[in-house]
Amino acid sequence: MKLDISNREDLVNLMKAFYTKALVDESIGHYFTQVVQLDMEKHLPRITDFWETVVFDAGKYQGNTMKIHEDLHEQSPFQSAHFTRWIDLFKATVDDHFVGENAEKIKSRAISIATVMNLKMVHGGAGLK
Ligand code: HEM
Repeated sequence: MKLDISNREDLVNLMKAFYTKALVDESIGHYFTQVVQLDMEKHLPRITDFWETVVFDAGKYQGNTMKIHEDLHEQSPFQSAHFTRWIDLFKATVDDHFVGENAEKIKSRAISIATVMNLKMVHGGAGLK
């Protein structure tokens, strides 16, 4: 039986499952393996802090997410298809493991942030103030 996301450990497991798919993905995998050689031992606690802050208001993450992705975009330009793929993988990973209010919340926040990134980077900020 699937349960809701209820603590940091759940988020760690969700992120491990997500990156298992993302790192070998045909569309976006190269960002994690070639554009940046992601050190998962360092990335996992940071990305978990990020989601713990988004889902549980934990106040643990203070990085500049947009700037990090703007830097990636400069090295290897993002296309809308990359964000679509990221969203599909993220949603599928959540749905494979969890069900409930926080599972819905993390998906909708992920989609919002990915949509803003896409608008800013791919469409030059169209529709954003
Ligand atoms: C096409 C979609 C995306 C790709 C290919 C991608 C790729 C990456 C990569 C390669 C990094 C590591 C950068 C580095 O360490 O220098 C990173 C960091 C990060 N990503 Fe993404 N990303 C995508 C979308 C998103 C979205 C939509 C979110 C949030 C909803 C997100 C959240 C983060 C966060 C919080 C970090 C930084 C963690 C830190 O401060 O070290 N990413 N991303």
